[in-house]
Amino acid sequence: MRKGILLAGGLGTRLFPITQVVCKQLLPVYDKPMVYYPLCTLMQAGITEILLICTPTDLPLFKSLLHNGHQWGINIEFATQAKPKGLAQALIIAEHFLNGSPCAMILGDNLFYGHQLQHTLQSTNKISSATVFGYHVANPQAYGVIEFDKHNQVLSITEKPAKPKSNFAMPGLYFFDNKASYYAKQVFPSERGELEIVDVINQYLDNNNLQVNILGRGTAWLDTGTPDAMAEATQYIAAIEKRQGLKVSCPEEIAYSMGLIDQLQLKKLAKPLLKSGYGEYLLSLLNKNFPDEMD
Ligand code: DAU
Repeated sequence: MRKGILLAGGLGTRLFPITQVVCKQLLPVYDKPMVYYPLCTLMQAGITEILLICTPTDLPLFKSLLHNGHQWGINIEFATQAKPKGLAQALIIAEHFLNGSPCAMILGDNLFYGHQLQHTLQSTNKISSATVFGYHVANPQAYGVIEFDKHNQVLSITEKPAKPKSNFAMPGLYFFDNKASYYAKQVFPSERGELEIVDVINQYLDNNNLQVNILGRGTAWLDTGTPDAMAEATQYIAAIEKRQGLKVSCPEEIAYSMGLIDQLQLKKLAKPLLKSGYGEYLLSLLNKNFPDEMD
């Protein structure tokens, strides 16, 4: 069974002074803490065993927000990363938790939303090779960039290239087989002193064991590394939620719709949240039937 890693460490220096005291993954994106969004993405993929990795300082805050996940029908464990030494280090920290299982790792500041996303995530969960995603962006130099040949075969993946070879960025959601921690241990620190995730992914590529799924225009992938990106994400989520009357990445709703919790538990979760309207929303779900197409 695939396990999940939610990486929510880092210093958030690009958001200073906002993140001098509270880490960014605990800040709001419209009506819920940022960390709810990547957590829901893992849940939508059908993953219920999750390790959250954060700084030692933030650990008590994450624990008091998320508890052990049982309230949402999942299991959340916690581990710390003392210094942000790179995304690949998370795979080493998680080795004990993974205990030989395949994993999906998501970055705590990556938001995904779109048509049939749940279906895409669940099909990806079933694939045994490693899978990463490609997403067309205007500023690929800010990301890991995927180069394709004429037949859409992947030629290279490069971290923040000065001259990107395509507009396809690689979002912070990676599906790996049970070799991820082993590959991470083979990686040497880059020039910026980090264990780079692309150096793990390139080992899969070299071994012909990497699949790249393009996320089309119907999917939104937002990251929230700067004040502008945070504001845009908030506006985006607010616009969608107000228009549809449905919430994006609401863990209680996802748990309920996936059968991880029952009506009684949903009512219990709603109670302390009634004043903000969030609880009312949860109660409204009790009498709703969603067709499958509405994932
Ligand atoms: O957002 C997608 C991009 O994320 C990918 O396209 C890149 O290939 C990948 O390297 C990463 O780039 P970023 O520049 O966004 O990485 P950043 O250093 O900002 O870290 C991403 C998140 O992970 C951030 O919320 C902090 C957290 N983090 C980062 C590092 C380096 C950790 O928890 N621990 C770390 O050691």
